Amino acid sequence: MTTIPLLTLNDGRKIPAIGFGTYPLDNPQAEAAVREALAAGYRLFDTAARYGNESGVGTGLLSFDVGREDIFVTTKLRGAEQGFDSTLRAFEASLERLKMSYIDMYLIHWPLPGKDLYVESWKAMIRLQKEGRVRSIGVSNFLPEHLQRLIDETGVTPAVNQIEMHVDFAQAAQREVDSKLGILTQAWSPLGRGDILKDPTLGRVAERHGRTPAQVMLRWVVQTGSVPIPKSAHPERMRANLRVFDFQLTDEDMRDLATLDAPSHRTGGDPATYIEE
Ligand SMILES: NC(=O)c1ccc[n+]([C@@H]2O[C@H](COP(=O)([O-])OP(=O)(O)OC[C@H]3O[C@@H](n4cnc5c(N)ncnc54)[C@H](OP(=O)(O)O)[C@@H]3O)[C@@H](O)[C@H]2O)c1
Repeated sequence: MTTIPLLTLNDGRKIPAIGFGTYPLDNPQAEAAVREALAAGYRLFDTAARYGNESGVGTGLLSFDVGREDIFVTTKLRGAEQGFDSTLRAFEASLERLKMSYIDMYLIHWPLPGKDLYVESWKAMIRLQKEGRVRSIGVSNFLPEHLQRLIDETGVTPAVNQIEMHVDFAQAAQREVDSKLGILTQAWSPLGRGDILKDPTLGRVAERHGRTPAQVMLRWVVQTGSVPIPKSAHPERMRANLRVFDFQLTDEDMRDLATLDAPSHRTGGDPATYIEE
């Protein structure tokens, strides 16, 4: 089984250097996938209230003989529940669905600047962290101005910013801001949702190392110092996706991969304008 390195967050806690994504699995699928992923060696699991699968994730995690302290569970606050009191209530509901007494990481899923409630939500998350209900707190899809406002208004810097990031949508500017603020960047859709895996340049780099294009994409994220959270419903892919800590991309590889990067390769919403349905 692959041993996964740990990284240290700005609050002193440790986080696995790769995790397992669970969107768009439903409850039964998530339960089965989480069981397989645990057996494969994953210890970081990513879910969200909005995915509707926290219950399946929680059941899957219960069913395996791994200590609670050895797994790291991330869930997220959905947009409809932003606000101080509603964040506290939403957190309790997530905890109940996950069947856990604490969560390792709670993220604001999207900033939704039009609602202007992310600072209030953040204040509730700071309280939950002080109470020990959540170990670490962070955000997702936050742009530099959103991060700065949280810090200016509360003095508390998020531990993580989980953003769309794949080799062809490399997010260098946002990562630089995250890094300067001491925030760990997590990469969602690190495989670009599978679309880019047939690219010939990526294929050539993979061939040089005797690896798959997916492993090169995940290794690229790891080499930028970020944490990928790939999703797969297939046990053999889950295992292969973990084997990214025993080879290194060269400068030439990184230069070749940089040619794939373009802002138009975004697959999800633009955080400046995105509105959660
Ligand atoms: N914070 C946010 O706003 C946000 C947004 C989107 C996603 N996320 C999180 O990020 C996680 C990952 O993102 P994602 O699921 O959108 O995309 P992804 O992990 O980049 O790609 C998943 C797709 O790649 C396929 N795949 C996985 N491993 C493969 C391999 N080795 N070879 C070929 N194909 C492979 C999967 O198919 P199979 O399942 O059939 O293997 C699936 O279709 C999500 O599950 C979710 O937890 C967060």
